[in-house]
Amino acid sequence: MKITVKKGNALEQKTSCLVLGVFAGKYKNEQLSQINQQLGGALDRATRSKEFTGGKGETLLLHGGSQAFAERILLLGLGKESLFSLRSLRQVTSSAVKLLAEKQLGSFLLALPQLPIKKTDFGERIQTIVEGVLLADYRYDRYLPKDKPGKPAVLDHVELLISANASTATAKAAIEAAEAIGSGVCFARDLVNAPGNLKSPEYLAMQAVAMAEQVGIKAKLLDRRELERQGFGAMLGVAQGSEREPYLIVLEYQGGIEAEQPIALVGKGVTFDAGGISLKPAEKMDEMKMDMGGAAAVLGTMKAAAEMRLTINLVAVVPVVENMPSGTAIRPGDILTSLSGKTIEVLNTDAEGRLILADALTYVARYQPSVVIDLATLTGACIVALGNHAAAVLGNHSGLIRQLLKAGERSDERFWQLPLWEEYSELIKSDFADVKNTGGRAAGTITAAAFLQAFADKYKWAHLDIAGMAWAEQGKAGQPKGGTGFGVRALIEYLRGATK
Ligand code: BES
Ligand code: MN
Ligand code: ZN
Repeated sequence: MKITVKKGNALEQKTSCLVLGVFAGKYKNEQLSQINQQLGGALDRATRSKEFTGGKGETLLLHGGSQAFAERILLLGLGKESLFSLRSLRQVTSSAVKLLAEKQLGSFLLALPQLPIKKTDFGERIQTIVEGVLLADYRYDRYLPKDKPGKPAVLDHVELLISANASTATAKAAIEAAEAIGSGVCFARDLVNAPGNLKSPEYLAMQAVAMAEQVGIKAKLLDRRELERQGFGAMLGVAQGSEREPYLIVLEYQGGIEAEQPIALVGKGVTFDAGGISLKPAEKMDEMKMDMGGAAAVLGTMKAAAEMRLTINLVAVVPVVENMPSGTAIRPGDILTSLSGKTIEVLNTDAEGRLILADALTYVARYQPSVVIDLATLTGACIVALGNHAAAVLGNHSGLIRQLLKAGERSDERFWQLPLWEEYSELIKSDFADVKNTGGRAAGTITAAAFLQAFADKYKWAHLDIAGMAWAEQGKAGQPKGGTGFGVRALIEYLRGATK
């Protein structure tokens, strides 16, 4: 698909469809009056009958008359002007794209970049629009017939109309950034949507290596033998219940000078979480193929960062295993010796994410990272606390948490901080080992983070629990049912902040 910019008068552009935004109740401006006139009063009639009032999410598709340049005009309700935000801009763009693609229109002109939004710049608005386009264009159709009826059109050419005095260079840079981010998000979504039979730890490792090769970053895999040699006891404990081989994926991107300490990203990669001997109930167990959503976000972010050539150094550490019940699986009560040397009493084999992350967080210290951010679909408790509208953020450095909260806000991948006071660490003390892997029913997201903190004591660290965000149970425009790629946009926003 091509995304290009164009300057000129919206009403004088040849296109199969012109998409125009309309704020609630504001359909009487000069441009819209002109359209109304060209179309013989069609807009008047639609607003009088309240078919279209500019309310958020409303659409009105009109066919251009003989006087119009555009074959069609799609009016897009934006809601109240004072409430319009980048979040709304991304959403309405996605709704428009979805609607047009379903109508088999693959080329159109978006006259949305000029819309006013407080405290935003032109480049940001362009980036948001293009993200809205690319996220709406995504579907996972690997296992669907090519000629499925009702399939939306493949997007061919999307044009953005910018005002005569706007900078084409800024627009082009923003489009490129959004394309990199979009490719990172869609890569992550593909990985999450892949079913468990296809998605072995080895498959995920191979996907990571292929991606690294494609964008020109260094990749290294530690296999079982190497993990044993180095003493990844916690990670190997989880892996031992599965017939499939575990891997530690390590990616290095050098966009800064060599001496600069890297930012480290760590992602939970459980390709399927059956719970192990502490087996999960059957209901919704299928969704546990998404338990590598953290890994996907980290890999998607590495892809986007490399494509954007961010001027920073990055390292990604992604432990990948499958959590299965079997005769070789770990039992409740088992005690594992982690890479750090700390011993862990496994009270529940379904609390496996923190086990593999413990070793990954220990391993990453050897890179002497300036900060470490881990992402994980770690606890059901996080969904109880925040639902599907925010990820939890916790950590040992308030400045880092503040930066992440801000990046989440700007990218519309929202985080909410939970406390990590030292009292919570009492709850994971074990009678038989240094720590235990569950802290009881209360504050499940926090005690999971308190467990991780015991292995993240050598650097600034933040943990993002994305359990409620990695998978969309219900689809909407810009986000079909399934993997979301959550985290890529926020992390890129954070990383771009770190380059300034
Ligand atoms: N992968 C799950 C957490 C999860 C649940 C993610 C639902 C997304 C949706 C994790 O491995 C897990 O099973 N956590 C347990 C921990 C408990 C045993 C202490 C949980 O949340 O129930
Ligand atoms: Mn689990
Ligand atoms: Zn899990």
